[in-house]
Amino acid sequence: AEIRVKDAGGHEYNVIEWQGMYFPLFPRIVPRLEALSTFECRKDDILLLTYPKSGTRWIYSIVSMVKNNSTNDPSMDSIYFEALDQEGFAKMASPRILASHLPRHLLPPDVWRKQIKVILVTRNPKDVAVSFYNFMKGIKDFEYTGPWESYFPIFTQGKVPYGSWFDHTKEMCKGVDSNANCLFLTYEEMLKDLPAAVKKINSFLGFERSDAFLEEVAQKCTFSSMKRSEEAGGLNKYLKDGHRFFRKGQVADWKNWFTVAQNEEFDELYNAKMSDAPPDLKSRV
Ligand code: A3P
Repeated sequence: AEIRVKDAGGHEYNVIEWQGMYFPLFPRIVPRLEALSTFECRKDDILLLTYPKSGTRWIYSIVSMVKNNSTNDPSMDSIYFEALDQEGFAKMASPRILASHLPRHLLPPDVWRKQIKVILVTRNPKDVAVSFYNFMKGIKDFEYTGPWESYFPIFTQGKVPYGSWFDHTKEMCKGVDSNANCLFLTYEEMLKDLPAAVKKINSFLGFERSDAFLEEVAQKCTFSSMKRSEEAGGLNKYLKDGHRFFRKGQVADWKNWFTVAQNEEFDELYNAKMSDAPPDLKSRV
């Protein structure tokens, strides 16, 4: 059902609530989510898993270009499990690239049964919080206007679409670690050395593209290059004036937003929530 959720200052935003989780107002999202329980994977499907604002479109762009053996901008109209009907998926040519922010327990069981290839991207949750805040304020459908200090508590409490970053990340990594067909990437490593990340993605997927081509993919997938083509492509139609999907694309922008007290609170929460996370996960985020 569609509901309005209040942030810590009483500013409301619109979401759909389903199975105890909040979702953006994608059309027909509930029947689509329900249908996922019987979704049939193909053995060569590639699944991109992220918490929101962790570089989903970025990884999608790279994987598409590598798969297509072309650096033309891929169409990103409906790239999510949550935003496409079964007929849409059925019509897609193999290998399909599927993307999702869904936690493991809501993903099609066939993902794990067929052991399809999964690429998981995580990002520093402080930067995720800031990016998510700007996104929620920017997207028209949310109708959200709260200030950062009212948003910060709902992010830490997980009262945002797709729930708590902590629970989501731990659950996602647990599922994926038990899948041998899994590649783990961080937003930060992609930003630090994109050509290396593109090579890693290509070897994982086994497409055997030339080094020169992979270098070209990396150049086409920098922040500035993607921002330029996006301005032409028009994702910004979902955003209010003055907001941009390709906002900053940087590491540690959180330092411009978090107060000292918020940072201390966040670190404390991180340590408490992630104490039972595998050590290699902690070093990745
Ligand atoms: P910022 O808001 O910090 O700029 P998602 O696709 O999962 O919604 O993630 C969006 C975030 O990834 C935004 O972060 C966006 O700017 C950033 N991003 C998208 N493409 C990028 C790229 N090529 N390089 C770096 N960051 C990118």
